[in-house]
Amino acid sequence: MLQIKKLKLTHKKDLRVILDDFNLVLNDGDKAVIIGEEGNGKSTLMKWIYDPSLIENYIEADGERVMGNERLGYLPQEMPDEDKKKTVYEYFSEEEIFWEKTPKELSVIAGKFGIKNDFFYSSQMMGSLSGGEKVKVQLMRLFIRDVSVLLLDEPSNDIDIATLTLLEKTINE
Ligand SMILES: Nc1ncnc2c1ncn2[C@@H]1O[C@H](COP(=O)(O)OP(=O)(O)OP(=O)(O)O)[C@@H](O)[C@H]1O
Ligand SMILES: [Mg+2]
Repeated sequence: MLQIKKLKLTHKKDLRVILDDFNLVLNDGDKAVIIGEEGNGKSTLMKWIYDPSLIENYIEADGERVMGNERLGYLPQEMPDEDKKKTVYEYFSEEEIFWEKTPKELSVIAGKFGIKNDFFYSSQMMGSLSGGEKVKVQLMRLFIRDVSVLLLDEPSNDIDIATLTLLEKTINE
């Protein structure tokens, strides 16, 4: 279960209130979608849910986040610049549990995403991956970590129909 209680987010610069008295409970299997106009604070909210420190430089946040034993996974709207500078192999290697996975387990994840097994060891720079490949790589890393909550920020941007279908299937599962 993931619960948010009485969250208020205020922009530090102009003191604009982005969110006020926001309450949310997500139980096992629940899916929720955030809809709002550009700049309304959807990404800001999602970052706070994942890790409040991600927004502390521009947001004053007041509220409570209760998440029991949930393991949160977050797909940012845009791949961070520091990740773009890593090779695919470096990116996966950072995940400690990557080293504990058997080739068979990795092959199951690769198969799910329609990607060759040796892709985990690729020396290609993350920044040079196509939009769809970027989404896949980040989702694959979340699957390696075996997260229980997926926080996806506009995951369907930049992806083709095949990857979109895959994403739908992944979310449904
Ligand atoms: N790193 C930052 N520093 C300062 N202000 C920021 C930062 N990131 C976002 N903002 C501001 O916070 C507000 C909410 O932005 P946010 O990115 O959360 O909106 P959004 O709803 O996700 O928009 P979009 O639909 O365009 O993705 C906007 O006014 C934005 O300019
Ligand atoms: Mg956004």
